[in-house]
Amino acid sequence: APAAASAVPAELREKYAAAEQEHVFKYVDSGLVGGEQAAHLISQASSLDLGRIKTIYTAAMEAEKNLSSGDLEPLDKADSVADSSAETLGDWSKAGMEAISRGEVAALVLSGGQGTRLGFAGPKGMYNIGLPSGHTLFQMFAQRIGSLSRLAGAAIPFYIMTSPMNHEATVAYFADNAYFGLPKEDVLFFPQGTLPPLTEDTGKIMLESGGNIGEASDGNGGIYSSLKLSGNLGDMEKRGIKYVHTFSVDNAICKVCDPTFMGYCISQGSDCGNKVVWKSEPGEKVGVFGKKGGKYCVIEYSEMAEADTKLTTEDGKLAYGAGNICNHFFSTDFLRRVTAQDDVLTYHVARKKIPTPDEAGNPVKPDGNNGIKLECFIFDAFVVSEQMAVLEGERASEFSPVKNPPGEAKDSPDSARLMLGAQAIEWIRAAGGTVIEGSNMCEVSTALSYNGEGLEA
Ligand code: UTP
Repeated sequence: APAAASAVPAELREKYAAAEQEHVFKYVDSGLVGGEQAAHLISQASSLDLGRIKTIYTAAMEAEKNLSSGDLEPLDKADSVADSSAETLGDWSKAGMEAISRGEVAALVLSGGQGTRLGFAGPKGMYNIGLPSGHTLFQMFAQRIGSLSRLAGAAIPFYIMTSPMNHEATVAYFADNAYFGLPKEDVLFFPQGTLPPLTEDTGKIMLESGGNIGEASDGNGGIYSSLKLSGNLGDMEKRGIKYVHTFSVDNAICKVCDPTFMGYCISQGSDCGNKVVWKSEPGEKVGVFGKKGGKYCVIEYSEMAEADTKLTTEDGKLAYGAGNICNHFFSTDFLRRVTAQDDVLTYHVARKKIPTPDEAGNPVKPDGNNGIKLECFIFDAFVVSEQMAVLEGERASEFSPVKNPPGEAKDSPDSARLMLGAQAIEWIRAAGGTVIEGSNMCEVSTALSYNGEGLEA
């Protein structure tokens, strides 16, 4: 055998052979890949849990076969901010503030995604959406936490789920910016898990180049296992955290730890909560929160018959209208319960164009889909909830996702800037200020005000 073949430790090779995955060493064995590259591949191979990959692959393929579009039901109960009295809203907000003041609430941002649509190279949270201040998404979230924490007179720990690919850059960014005024010990980072791409028919691990296994985040449902494995769930419990607000990194306007939503969930003893915004029209391509087989779930747009998307209730609202915006409440007990079971989450199959090595071992992007990535979603754990709470918020103050690149009219930095600007103008007017007509760019710093309060001076 060529000298390079001995580079693969015998035990590792045996493990891979037993799992019928020994092809990953093909380029090392043929001598095309050596030195540091071979060492990198061997280290990657040693870190993969082949048993887990096989279990996830088998279950995901099986689940996909049994996907049914039947037995869907709309939500039977949801409250809405717009239809609630000022008194009720005040009660919820008070309950939420009290929990924050007791130090029972933490924030958790999901930032392990790749943000491919936005096309920004760094972690998405480091993206500057073009406000006058130049504040990035991470900075806005951190400063809202700081502002709320001052109002409540208590610390709000900020947990940041990264991916192995963006972890270091994220940690360095916060350190370089003095944690945007938050106490260093209250900003905690943990990377989520990854999975290699696989061939669809046999579940073989795909090499991206001769010396590299492509790796991708395993979906935002990775939150559960990584919270537990990183020790951060334990950290929450040690700090006396009872409730966690989880949100997506790209919702620029997100009211982090919104006292009204937190209090709404807490006052009904919920273990899990979902803040939704109603779909603007039947064709809007967002997942809808509803039920399947009697259990709460998010129904993908593609899973619904067109006629169902148009159904309305007596009051003229879309029946399947509860748009999922990745804005969730969890009790730490719920997180414990989900992480105690291994098989709560079934992974979903996404067919993708996966680069593969040519004869010389260089990556080549295929023209069509040639493999699969497996992902699980945070909302798939809702089936475990015993007391679900659903609150409909108002889109204008709740949801401005930054998914698409600048220049796009929808779900882009431009649309987020406009929404934040409109909100700032409303706040300034409510505080007795005057905004000159035609002003096209207005900002209230998140460091100054959490939700429009304190602007009179
Ligand atoms: P999206 O589904 O919008 O994915 O994630 P994305 O990676 O940000 O963007 P595209 O689709 O590649 O353009 C919704 C939220 O879930 C997080 C994202 O960071 C975002 O906050 N997420 C997604 C994770 O934390 N981990 C993942 O593996 C995937």
